[in-house]
Amino acid sequence: MENLGYYNGKIGLIEEMTVPMTDRGLFFGDGVYDATCAVNHTLFALEDHMNRFTNSLAGVRIKPTQTREELTALLCELVKKVDSDCVMVYWQMTRGSYLRGHAFPPEEIKPNLLVFITPFQMGPFDRTLRLITREDTRYYHCNIKTLNLLPNVLAAQATKEAGCDEVVFHRGDRVTEGCHSNIMMISGGALCTPPADELILPGITRKHLMQTAEQLGMPVREAPFTVEELMQADEVLVTSNGSLCSRVTHIDGKPVGGRAGEMLRRLQLAYGKRFNAETGGKVYDEE
Ligand code: PDD
Repeated sequence: MENLGYYNGKIGLIEEMTVPMTDRGLFFGDGVYDATCAVNHTLFALEDHMNRFTNSLAGVRIKPTQTREELTALLCELVKKVDSDCVMVYWQMTRGSYLRGHAFPPEEIKPNLLVFITPFQMGPFDRTLRLITREDTRYYHCNIKTLNLLPNVLAAQATKEAGCDEVVFHRGDRVTEGCHSNIMMISGGALCTPPADELILPGITRKHLMQTAEQLGMPVREAPFTVEELMQADEVLVTSNGSLCSRVTHIDGKPVGGRAGEMLRRLQLAYGKRFNAETGGKVYDEE
């Protein structure tokens, strides 16, 4: 298949799939999701993504009918059905379908599982990005990957209209993350990231980069930092499954980073090696 849609056991091309209008994901964004890419029909870091998905479900009190093992097996089976050997796999679970009412529906209403798989082009890791800053007006459960993404959508559109690639959300002075990625920096020889609290999504790429840095003997600092500190950093990084670990050249039109290129390159190469080893693919060139 060239792409794949799945909804509660039904499989078809995405453009042919339909969902019931009472799905609570539509009324309330009452659900959670996760996503990862697959290369050679192998889902990248599936264990980590399933851990986060399980935490997200618990965070909003959705009880899946499938076990974690069943869900994992389903995703692995679905990814084999799609022709392309580089795809994005997205899965979401909502609290089920029921007439609109804010409180949970009756116990017997079961969650809805939706999956889609589309061909995906991994960005080259020497891609550079331009960012804009924006006040983070999201709510306080950003560690739960819910479907409620309107502030992220508005920020993504503002970014696009500014001819840029991502946003730096900040609460007051404090940098949180991007609208669909984490923001990190290299400063004073250390890889720095805001702490994984309820203000950011605990990105899997972020976690892997922290592990990679440690393996390379680079110090890792998990502590809040300000927009000003980011502007002065030796390098600014945007990390996510899709954007990988990309170098930022400008924030709000001002040049940033560019002073720890070698350290960044070592990190990117080591991360790339790990990615290739896990998927058996050659998405990253290893020099
Ligand atoms: N975005 N922060 C936010 C708000 C995100 O939405 C994402 C991922 C990340 C990075 O997480 P990871 O490294 O695990 O991809 C950080 C997904 C893919 C999306 O919504 O499309």
